Amino acid sequence: MQEKKFLYLNKQISYSTVGEGESVLVLVHGFPEDRRIWKNQWDAFPGYTLIIPDLPGSGQSEAIEDMSMEGLATALACLLEAEISNKNQQVTLIGHSMGGYITLAFAEKYPERLNGFGLFHSTSIADNEQKIEARKKGIETIRNKGVKTFVEGMIPNLYAEETKEKRPQLIKEQIEWAYNFSGENLVSYYEAMMKRPDRTNLLKQSKVPVLFIFGKSDTAVRLEEGLQLCHLPEISYIDILEHSAHMGMREEVSKANKLITNFLRITATT
Ligand code: MLT
Repeated sequence: MQEKKFLYLNKQISYSTVGEGESVLVLVHGFPEDRRIWKNQWDAFPGYTLIIPDLPGSGQSEAIEDMSMEGLATALACLLEAEISNKNQQVTLIGHSMGGYITLAFAEKYPERLNGFGLFHSTSIADNEQKIEARKKGIETIRNKGVKTFVEGMIPNLYAEETKEKRPQLIKEQIEWAYNFSGENLVSYYEAMMKRPDRTNLLKQSKVPVLFIFGKSDTAVRLEEGLQLCHLPEISYIDILEHSAHMGMREEVSKANKLITNFLRITATT
């Protein structure tokens, strides 16, 4: 694995690359996460070059002025342009939750750069009123009580009961990673997610295969909501992680990796 840095609009963006394969897989983390969330995927796709960024404002990357889903997608496109020497190279982009919202914004703006994309516990549907209210409360907590209280309250809810009982260290580890966030950046992400448009039409129009991975007990992106979307693309690859909530790449590593591997076989032939 190589740790790299890229200067984007005078801000430092950090990312990792793994492998030297001709095909490229980009893994985009969600909120409040950084690239370490994919640590069980780093070595799982031999033959591929993996590019795993810390999004602007997360991990070791500085925030940028435009923290909208579209702004973050543009930053990602510039990073890929700088990293990949073959300018005609198409990539497969898989985004976890907020990373999926950014993936959709990327697919809208740069469809020619993708041979497939994946929504890992994510959705094309915009926030409803209930979700917006919940985010406003979250912002109040971040501002009034601080990042520590916010992440300690939020992150355990992303995991299935089974994981909480049997592998509490997974949750503890993710909480510790999240302590590093600045409150300001967390608020920027929440504000950007509240404003993001519905991109369901994009799924209907997709010319490339779309991967959907759902968690059976996910309360952040509910299975019922996801199941309304997954038949929309012309080609989709769908599965449910039975023992996961919102963090399947950590809760059910081998099945998640197998699903991604199978999807990569599909994108390789399109
Ligand atoms: C995430 O995991 O990225 C968040 O749960 C996304 C969201 O809050 O909509």
